[in-house]
Amino acid sequence: MASITDLPIEFVGSFPDPRQRLAPILPEIAVLGRSNVGKSTLINAVVGRRIARTSGTPGKTQHLNVFRFPTFYLIDLPGYGYAKLSLSERRRLRALVYDTVVGRTDLAAVMWLLDIRHPPSKDDLAMRDLLAESKRETIVILTKSDKLPQAQRLAAVRARAVDLEVDAEDVVVTSATKGTGLEELGELMLEAVAGESRSRP
Ligand code: GTP
Ligand code: MG
Repeated sequence: MASITDLPIEFVGSFPDPRQRLAPILPEIAVLGRSNVGKSTLINAVVGRRIARTSGTPGKTQHLNVFRFPTFYLIDLPGYGYAKLSLSERRRLRALVYDTVVGRTDLAAVMWLLDIRHPPSKDDLAMRDLLAESKRETIVILTKSDKLPQAQRLAAVRARAVDLEVDAEDVVVTSATKGTGLEELGELMLEAVAGESRSRP
C-alpha cells in the first residue's frame, strides 16, 4: 500500500454546513476532539505537509475543512468544548460536529483525539457515547505524547484506555512534534477507507 505521505492532496473547501455534499462520492474520514487537542496539527504531521490551519489559540477551525485524496476525503472539524465561546457559538459547533458524526452517509471512520495527559472531559465522554451509539468505526488517538516524560507514558496510555473503555493496544499514541505514531496512523487511515475493520469505543 502506498504511504499517505506520497498521495496527492487537494483542498476542496471550508463548509459551514455539516450536510455539505461532496462530488465525487468517496469514503470520508473525520477528525474529532476537544478544541486545541491537536487535530489540525496531527493532520499536517501525518500527511507531511501543511494543509490544515493550526494555532495556539483554541477555536481555530470553524468549519468542515475538506481535503481530497485520490480515494477518500479527510475532514478537519472544529473542536468541541471550548468554554470561552458564546453559548450560541458553542451550540453551533456542537451541532456541526454531531451532525457530521451522525448524519454523513459516507463517513467510513473517525479519528478521535484525546490529550494523553488528561482524563476525558464531560464533552469527551459525551462523544464516546455518540460514537458508540452511531457505531462509527473509530481510531482512538492520544496526542502530545512528547509532553509527558517517557517513564509516565505507558501508565498514561493504560489510564486513558481504562477511561475510554477501549483496549490499550488499539490506542494510537502520537506526537506531531516528535513524529511518534504517524506512520502507524497513516496506515490505519488508509485501511479504514479500504474497508478494514477497527475497534469502537
Ligand atoms: P481547534 O481547531 O481549535 O479545535 O484546535 P486543534 O485541535 O486543531 O489544535 P491545533 O492543531 O491547532 O493545535 C493546538 C496547539 O497544540 C498548537 O499550539 C499546537 O502546536 C499544539 N500541538 C499539537 N500537537 C502537538 C504535539 O504533538 N506536541 C506538542 N508539544 N504540541 C502540539
Ligand atoms: Mg483545528
